Amino acid sequence: MNRISGNLRKAKLRLMKDPELRKLLVRSGWDEIVLDLDGDGSADVCFSDESGDGNIDTIAIDLTGDGEFNLYLHDADGNGIPDTVLWADDGSEELELLAFGSGVERELIDIGTRIRRILIAEEFLNEEFNISLTDLSAYMKEHLAELIDEVNRMVNAEGIDKVYYFLDNVGTYYLSTVDTTGGTPVPRVRPFGTILLYDGKLYIQTGKVKDVSKQIAANPQAELCAFQDGVWLRLAGELVNDDNIEVKRAMLEKMPELKAMYSAEDDNTQVLYFKNATATFSSFTSEPEVIKF
Ligand SMILES: Cc1cc2nc3c(=O)[nH]c(=O)nc-3n(C[C@H](O)[C@H](O)[C@H](O)COP(=O)(O)O)c2cc1C
Repeated sequence: MNRISGNLRKAKLRLMKDPELRKLLVRSGWDEIVLDLDGDGSADVCFSDESGDGNIDTIAIDLTGDGEFNLYLHDADGNGIPDTVLWADDGSEELELLAFGSGVERELIDIGTRIRRILIAEEFLNEEFNISLTDLSAYMKEHLAELIDEVNRMVNAEGIDKVYYFLDNVGTYYLSTVDTTGGTPVPRVRPFGTILLYDGKLYIQTGKVKDVSKQIAANPQAELCAFQDGVWLRLAGELVNDDNIEVKRAMLEKMPELKAMYSAEDDNTQVLYFKNATATFSSFTSEPEVIKF
């Protein structure tokens, strides 16, 4: 798994040894490194060790360029990936919790890796993005702005979007169908992971050769269940086959690992969307929330 954290002392040594990186240094304390990436004299990013175990667990970033940190990525559980995102409005001391939890970790892995690599900056930036250190601040602002939008969309999602984000974050859900091949209907369940929101519809993907596909063809009533962070979702409805090749393409683009087994043009790939669906979010601590689409 990609990691954001690193040993603070090693990072300092690296910084001190590299004249280009050293120029970025605003200050370096026993538990923090503060850098000015764009050379405007004010700090842009701070890597710090809040827990005191010698590892970087928090990154604070000045996204607005006014010398105040306003985005904080914090790795609370020490697994090396930030799981808390805090945001402070311009000039405000108040921190707003944007996102928290393991779902957020998944979303942050990419940006976390990139931020960590600022510490090994020059070659990486040149090779991967063909940009100089002075361009880095702009790059980070742009990239993190997208990230913040995405996190906000996830946190504030309602209706079918909320169902989609939950399933997308959870990674694996369990899909049940009715098997009527033996005469008496019997339930079947298996793990699934494909999920796509396309044109306002929630799609899953399978192969037509699979029993699950045949069971849905014979009886489209299906239900899935997923659980994460104390909340479980049950989604019941009819699964409708859709032969639209654009949806199949979008599914394979979103989940490129499927391309090893499927292509949008083959006879096997199947996408199905939920119709007349009822999604119920439940937990032990609050009333169930029902969403119909
Ligand atoms: C984590 C995980 C995710 C999976 N996601 C899918 C999926 O999205 N679509 C699919 O057709 N099979 C998926 N599979 C494989 C199916 O569970 C497997 O092919 C199963 O046997 C299909 O059900 P069936 O035997 O009743 O046809 C996944 C398997 C695992 C372990």
